[in-house]
Amino acid sequence: MTTTVFTETVYERARAILARYPEGRERSALLPLLHLVQSEEGYVSPAGVAFCAEVLGINKAQVGAVATFYTMYKRRPTGDWLVSVCTNTMCDVLGGQQVYETLSELLGVGHDETTADGRITLEHAECLAACDYGPVMTVNYDFFDNVTPDSAVEVVEALRAGTPPKPSRAPRLCTLKEMAVQLAGFSDPREGAVGEGVAGAPTLRGVTLAQQHGIAVHGFDPDTPIPRKDADGTPARSVPAKVADAVKSVPAKVASAATAAKDAVTHRKPSESSGGDVKDPEVRAAEARNPDARTPEPDASGRTAPGNTGDAAGDAKPAGDDPGPQRQNLKDAQ
Ligand code: FES
Repeated sequence: MTTTVFTETVYERARAILARYPEGRERSALLPLLHLVQSEEGYVSPAGVAFCAEVLGINKAQVGAVATFYTMYKRRPTGDWLVSVCTNTMCDVLGGQQVYETLSELLGVGHDETTADGRITLEHAECLAACDYGPVMTVNYDFFDNVTPDSAVEVVEALRAGTPPKPSRAPRLCTLKEMAVQLAGFSDPREGAVGEGVAGAPTLRGVTLAQQHGIAVHGFDPDTPIPRKDADGTPARSVPAKVADAVKSVPAKVASAATAAKDAVTHRKPSESSGGDVKDPEVRAAEARNPDARTPEPDASGRTAPGNTGDAAGDAKPAGDDPGPQRQNLKDAQ
């Protein structure tokens, strides 16, 4: 079945996205594909979900599960200008909530709602990773730093007037659909659409203070090479790979320990020196340390009750307190 909402150009772009992934791994292209359909319709519509499912050969429920997980995929028609105000902890204490409430009142919309003319969508956002510039807001993911209720109103009024203001750290704003094209992995052809920036003073504040006060990490060498091989010359393995190997070896180690324990029980003979004493060596050791303590008698099933404080067999410690096995396990895992 072919969905008709999307043109051949969109199919071409979808094929270009799929071509970036290794054969058999095309399903990983779902995220950029969702941005692609959003760049056409301004949101991920049911037709967009069907398009992604068709292109990837998966079902619509699988696409929907991903599309509803990430907040950047909008499930309802969204304005040209998505205004996101950070109301997370750092921005909130610096006035982020007042900024959000001021804009909400000005636009007459609440969270994830769009103005009646369909041009501006407002949302409050979790940390936008620019706490050093807080409080912040973004318009189509470009930042406006250190906003106040008044400066935020100026930004929104400029959007309404059709004169998008320049963001704090980007050359110029683009519409949400244009931004979605970039997020799908295609360059923006507009002149000066993408600019390069450097880390600003607030971001570098900690480094600057350290330099001013002569604080440095002892022995730190920024040119320290990253080892490419293990000591024996084999390519360095990642930590997850090492952990995976350690986990793989656990069943074999457990089976070997169980066999050894079974053999020990099967071949155990009454000790000559103990005159036929068949007690576990650990019990005998505990009794030697605390000869006045009572050793519990086996019950009808032949088992011995767990030791409590004062029991020689219990050695005044709850079961599992012996750190020996844990230490050995940790050693093995390393
Ligand atoms: S809390 Fe607002 S950017 Fe981090």
